[in-house]
Amino acid sequence: MKLSQKVQAMQFSPIRKFNVYAIEAKEKGKKVYHLNIGQPDIKTPKAFMEAVKNFDSHVLAYAESGGLVQLQDAIANYFKRFGMDIERKDVLITNGGSEALSMIYTCLLDYGDEVLIPEPFYTNYQTFISAAGGKVVPVTTKAEEGYRYAYADRIEKVITDKTRAISLVNPGNPTGTILTRDEMRVIADVAKKHDLWIIADEVYREFAYDGREMTSFGQLEDIKERVIIVDSVSKRFSACGARIGCIVSKNQELMSNAMKLAQGRLCCPTLDMIGATALYELDPSYFNEVRTEYEARRDAVYEEIMKIPGVVCQKPGGAFYIMVKLPVESSEDFLVWLLTEFDDGGETVMYAPIQGFYGTEGLGRDELRIAYVLKKEDLVRGVELMRLGLEKYKELGYK
Ligand SMILES: Cc1ncc(COP(=O)(O)O)c(C=O)c1O
Repeated sequence: MKLSQKVQAMQFSPIRKFNVYAIEAKEKGKKVYHLNIGQPDIKTPKAFMEAVKNFDSHVLAYAESGGLVQLQDAIANYFKRFGMDIERKDVLITNGGSEALSMIYTCLLDYGDEVLIPEPFYTNYQTFISAAGGKVVPVTTKAEEGYRYAYADRIEKVITDKTRAISLVNPGNPTGTILTRDEMRVIADVAKKHDLWIIADEVYREFAYDGREMTSFGQLEDIKERVIIVDSVSKRFSACGARIGCIVSKNQELMSNAMKLAQGRLCCPTLDMIGATALYELDPSYFNEVRTEYEARRDAVYEEIMKIPGVVCQKPGGAFYIMVKLPVESSEDFLVWLLTEFDDGGETVMYAPIQGFYGTEGLGRDELRIAYVLKKEDLVRGVELMRLGLEKYKELGYK
């Protein structure tokens, strides 16, 4: 018996693969500050639970494959706030943003087709694209440049006759980088010139700081037929367990073909769609407090990071991640050491080493991602532990 080459070539999530060391550390009585995973501690709005509690039917039936119409309408109305003319038919409800991405790549890619992605990128993209038979072609970004990627020449350099799409996350995971309007225009023009799709993963849209504008690629009228938006309640409403996301596109050919996949998996969970409808119907003022909280966390964590000698870090404009380049040869080795050998007062820290977020072999060895999803004191203590750990690591002669 044989497994496919496709699945064997896939990697395990670098966000989760060091968990075994964290579990061992905890079994030995150490407290581990988890700065590695994007699971927010912000309370899910009560409206979700209330809506689910009020469900009053004797049968929990299948829903429409495209989603509950009231949820499609609530999402269409949400997009109208951004000046976008989105209707029910432009919204397909999926099992999280994850399924939206899988469906999109299945719709767009034939074997060997290429997708351009700025690296470092959210690692699961590699899995979704490989499963669809495609290939990730990275557009490399640098810590020293704040991980910016909207340079037409750099993008065009890697376009081939197999390139089908530019896929991006804005605001970015893992970099926290936010595109300016001018940068969005650069990407739109490259896509037009080379007849490419733009897959805009905007699951962090509301988390834009320092007064930055919340945007969507769907606002660019001249490219609306080539834009596919990925959205989700997971981060936006701190409802990761609801598993509700969507594909939003004005391109009806894409939407109609994605519906074949949606019908194949029957439907999304009915109760979660009911809860998600209540979330999308919340007053937009809901985001003010959440955004202020994340912004304060970002500032606190950044201030603490900058106390680490030899660090390279730029304050990101959005999402809830911050990239750090450390004066070590391998952020993976340092992490394993922090979890197995180090503690300060019985405490240590875990982050996500970033090597596995790059498509280019050998890049990102000295970089890591911190998710600022915990309360401020814990974030500051976590980064302090990294600094104290690094001092000790160097004292012991590690590089
Ligand atoms: C950029 C990005 N896209 C999509 C997802 C998928 O999220 P979900 O399937 O929970 O909507 C995540 C989750 O971390 C993410 O960071």
